Amino acid sequence: MANSKYKSYPIFSSQCISYLASLLAVAIVLTLVLPSFLGTSPSLRIIDKKDDAKIPVNITTAVDSIGTRPREPFTDLKLAYDHWDSEVGCSRFRDKFRRWKVNKTAVQQTDSGDCSKLKLDHVSVHVKMVMWIPDYLDGLYECRCGLSCLWTRNEALADRADVGLYQFYSPPETRNTGEPLRAFVELEAWRAPTGHEDIFISYHSSSDVQATYAGKTFRTTRSYNVANMKRDDVLVYWSSSRCLDSRDATAKSFLSHVPHHSFGRCLNNVGGNDTALEMYPDCQMRDNPVPQWWDHLHCAMSHYKFVLAIENTWTESYVSEKLFYPLEAGAVPIYFGAPNVWDLVPPNSIIDASKFESIEKLAEYVKAVAEDPVAYAEFHAWRRCGVLGNYGKVRLASLDTLPCRLCEFASMKGGRNATSTR
Ligand SMILES: *[C@@H]1O[C@H](CO)[C@@H](O)[C@H](O)[C@H]1NC(C)=O
Ligand SMILES: *[C@@H]1O[C@H](CO)[C@@H](O)[C@H](O)[C@H]1NC(C)=O
Ligand SMILES: *[C@@H]1O[C@H](CO)[C@@H](O)[C@H](O)[C@H]1NC(C)=O
Ligand SMILES: *[C@@H]1O[C@H](CO)[C@@H](O)[C@H](O)[C@H]1NC(C)=O
Repeated sequence: MANSKYKSYPIFSSQCISYLASLLAVAIVLTLVLPSFLGTSPSLRIIDKKDDAKIPVNITTAVDSIGTRPREPFTDLKLAYDHWDSEVGCSRFRDKFRRWKVNKTAVQQTDSGDCSKLKLDHVSVHVKMVMWIPDYLDGLYECRCGLSCLWTRNEALADRADVGLYQFYSPPETRNTGEPLRAFVELEAWRAPTGHEDIFISYHSSSDVQATYAGKTFRTTRSYNVANMKRDDVLVYWSSSRCLDSRDATAKSFLSHVPHHSFGRCLNNVGGNDTALEMYPDCQMRDNPVPQWWDHLHCAMSHYKFVLAIENTWTESYVSEKLFYPLEAGAVPIYFGAPNVWDLVPPNSIIDASKFESIEKLAEYVKAVAEDPVAYAEFHAWRRCGVLGNYGKVRLASLDTLPCRLCEFASMKGGRNATSTR
């Protein structure tokens, strides 16, 4: 990918490219051959898996020395990245996180189920009243193991449904063999099954089918325009309109120490209902005459170095869109929530508030990172260097991919022919 990107770069003529390519080839050969020829230079070593033991246990990078560099206010991300590339670089970053431990059990594996357990090769799901599962998921899917999956809201198409999917209302209290299996989806932290479902879908990996928030399926319209420059005067974006006492208290104690913008109804300090769009006209979407606040959420966040993300409930594995949106928008989430959050996000991608002794210490840290372009750039190194932790799997297990995964589960049960248990 990176290669083809450079090749299509218009300022390079083709002669120039072949010239550069031969220079590069010579450089690579020299890099590979010279050290062994000279018999020294342990720092120039191509590391692969079996060399793991040779990697030092503690590799320090820019975030380990926050506060030691002179403070340097910055707004230009590209310059910050260049700076980081020359001071740290991907190979050191990758080595540092090669031993990163994640709990694999926190995310369901989406591609390893035993195909021989499938009882049906076609499953149809009737999507009943649901709130934020968009219409565009409707369709016929080709899934693993030769399974096909019809996902539809249309009652006529779903006349022989194997699964009825419920979210807004509880499923029917009883089910007879021959009737659709009752699937119930509840992604909120209070994720209690109703007791009347045959299949329970929640954010947690112990559910029948997991559906994480790390997808794009919550809202259909959205500006993914992401800024290249970060504000330097205001450091933190926050927006919350469901004002819970405990969340507001946490936000207030932190935000009182750092320059911030609060756009929602809670602790609003910018005025109006939707000033984000006035502040950031680049977030306006064409053909969208009546913008909703969620349309430009990503774009507005992207103008800030940090986004405050506070879950309504702090419990294991409950990591909501409040964290994943800023992560997608190229901001660094300052996170209050799930104690095992690192099992669900990339290494060094967020600032985990639980790791700080006090709110004041956290605020000092955030302000120091904001004026340290090298350290700030390192919070984006995971995506620039492709270091994912469990995050890739968390995305694969999101609502975006629910149709095939639910169909697979229903097929294992035998669809509507599954014997009724109550
Ligand atoms: C690595 O760093 C940790 C935490 O700073 C420290 O406890 C440990 O002794 C270090 N190990 C080595 C081999 O330096
Ligand atoms: C791993 O995650 C699972 C599911 O979230 C959890 O039940 C288990 O306690 C975790 N294990 C460890 C060692 O943290
Ligand atoms: C903000 O929204 C509320 C509710 O939709 C509305 O009543 C109010 O007039 C709006 N305020 C402004 C300044 O637009
Ligand atoms: C379900 O059961 C009916 C009645 O026993 C049978 O005719 C039908 O073939 C079964 N369908 C599947 C997909 O097993």
